[in-house]
Amino acid sequence: MSKFVPRLTRKVAMITGGAQGIGETTARLFVKHGAKVVIADIQDELGKHVCEDIGLDNASFVHSDVTIESDAENAINTTLAKYGKLDIMINNAAIVDDVKPNILDNDLSAFERVMSVNVTGVFLGTKHAARAMIPARSGNIITMGSISGSIGGVISHSYSSSKHAIVGLTKNTAAELGQYGIRVNCLSPHFIPSPLTTNMISDYPEKYSNVYSNLKGIALAKDDVAEAALFLASDEARYISGHNLVLDGGFTVINPAFGLFARASPIEY
Ligand SMILES: NC(=O)c1ccc[n+]([C@@H]2O[C@H](COP(=O)([O-])OP(=O)(O)OC[C@H]3O[C@@H](n4cnc5c(N)ncnc54)[C@H](O)[C@@H]3O)[C@@H](O)[C@H]2O)c1
Repeated sequence: MSKFVPRLTRKVAMITGGAQGIGETTARLFVKHGAKVVIADIQDELGKHVCEDIGLDNASFVHSDVTIESDAENAINTTLAKYGKLDIMINNAAIVDDVKPNILDNDLSAFERVMSVNVTGVFLGTKHAARAMIPARSGNIITMGSISGSIGGVISHSYSSSKHAIVGLTKNTAAELGQYGIRVNCLSPHFIPSPLTTNMISDYPEKYSNVYSNLKGIALAKDDVAEAALFLASDEARYISGHNLVLDGGFTVINPAFGLFARASPIEY
């Protein structure tokens, strides 16, 4: 058996939306790899409970609504006061609205709320992380995207718009912040059962398990996303910046229902 080698020793990471789901799983993996993690979320009780479960020597909670600039500023300042630096920022917090396929049924307020959390929140997180990282001349910012940031037609108009927007923000900030040794990347998973997607998946179970998949025999899990975040955050990815790492088993490169290979006769081995 190969020896476990921690890949984030002495690193300090903040994870927005880390009280549950992908963010929580990522926090646990990062601590396992030697990082100190700060979870920034609006679910205070849950976030504190997760930190206690991980161990308060390695994980701490700060209340922060990503849409409020003073919260984002305070979350970074709290991290700097506690650890003296910020190496890794994971802009993970996001929300989704109800899927209303007809745009005429879509409300301005719901659209703006999704854009506020999913885009403005990422902008503020990136801005205040950069404020901490620029003087250090190093840092690593990862933004949680989605397959709906690469293709259309899989989720609501607002969510898809927001995930496309943060790919642009990733590229623009990577272009700017590279001069300070700061890498910025986006990580874009396929669907995973989580509180965010429970309603969608339970509404259309056959669509998510059959139509929205390409790689058979494997279902994407939160651990897979956390491992990809670990890779982007680690020194193994030291020359990767401005990239959108799509974690989708090949889903966005083809139409799995109508592709040439789907129609071809399967080869029996
Ligand atoms: N689950 C999926 O299928 C899936 C697929 C692709 C991308 N993603 C992305 O992965 C990320 C995490 O998704 P998840 O499935 O773990 O979601 P989740 O709903 O389980 O967790 C989201 C977390 O964000 C927090 N949050 C929401 N609004 C906030 C705000 N204003 N300020 C601070 N925190 C806030 C919530 O409290 C929650 O802890 C999101 O960016 C999501 O878009 C998820």
